[in-house]
Amino acid sequence: MEQPAETFLQERKELLEMARSYRQSQILFTCLELGIFDLLAGRWLPAGQVAAASGADERAVELLLNAAAALGWLEKRAEGFSNAPLMERHFTPGAPGLGRRLQLESAFYHRWGNLTQAVRSGKRPPEDRRTTQAEDWVKTFIHALYDAAAPVAPVIAAALALPEKCPLRVLDVGGGHGGYSIALAQRHPLLTATVFELPQVVPVAREIIAKSGMPDRVFVQEGNFQQEDLGSGYDVVLVFGVLNGEPPAGRPVLIRKVFNALNPGGIIVLRDAVLEPDRAGPPEAAIFALQMLLATDSGGLDSRADWDAWLRSAGFSPARPLVLPECIGADLVIATRPPG
Ligand SMILES: C[S@@+](CC[C@H](N)C(=O)[O-])C[C@H]1O[C@@H](n2cnc3c(N)ncnc32)[C@H](O)[C@@H]1O
Repeated sequence: MEQPAETFLQERKELLEMARSYRQSQILFTCLELGIFDLLAGRWLPAGQVAAASGADERAVELLLNAAAALGWLEKRAEGFSNAPLMERHFTPGAPGLGRRLQLESAFYHRWGNLTQAVRSGKRPPEDRRTTQAEDWVKTFIHALYDAAAPVAPVIAAALALPEKCPLRVLDVGGGHGGYSIALAQRHPLLTATVFELPQVVPVAREIIAKSGMPDRVFVQEGNFQQEDLGSGYDVVLVFGVLNGEPPAGRPVLIRKVFNALNPGGIIVLRDAVLEPDRAGPPEAAIFALQMLLATDSGGLDSRADWDAWLRSAGFSPARPLVLPECIGADLVIATRPPG
């Protein structure tokens, strides 16, 4: 059946809008890179002063500020520009850190520009490998992940409902910043946690843990889980955001190592984006799987059925999901090493 011309034109408009949505992303990244929201925190400034303070061209800054105002991110009146309340809440110096998270998104944005090349070759583009080798990449990456984790970690620590008043030992495999261990230690006074991390991440993790006030109960152990075992005697092992960076064959191997590190009765807690059985959804996970093509040599996402099979074959009891509020992101999957 032929579509009415108006519907066809409307669809064309919507497709074009979708294709051009990158422009808004870049406007936001440029505002952040020039420190615009910091400069306009709690005050009104004309474009000339913003340009002088950010070391940018006055005419171009005015164009940028006008576009940001048109998008509702800034307010404009006779004396100049100021942050709209949304930006004031999330991007100003006292706000809890979404700015650093977006610094990372800005780096990812450049990677996405190489998607065609990655799909043609089936490999991570060499340029993206160079970005991750840059000196400050690890620091930026780990701090940005911490900013993402810090507000959700206490919710996860509560949802896990670990036994109170027990001297629990937690292992946080690839724990990065240690934010989840910190939240658990804050909630459970007798709990100690070990963040198991690669050498280049260790100093960043130590710095974050020291600032959190928990260095007496959250430790960092340098190691490489691809080459070493994880130790033993743990009651809880967190594997958050780690499986997706491993090659397919390495994922069940890591789960077996976790089983061996646990005390009988201990639990593994998995957190990662998970694909539907046909791997074509949910959208965020299917898109993230493509991002892994851009960011890793052979990382990727799996389905719950894959996880269940690996857990079963390692010796775990059947896994159960722990559904978290939608704003937290991925749900948790918990499985127990059978007691005795
Ligand atoms: C995506 S980050 C997740 C960090 C944290 N668990 C979270 O959820 O925010 C993956 C972490 O695994 C660590 N990692 C990757 N391979 C590792 C290995 N072979 N041994 C130890 N840590 C590893 C990385 O250094 C990185 O900090």
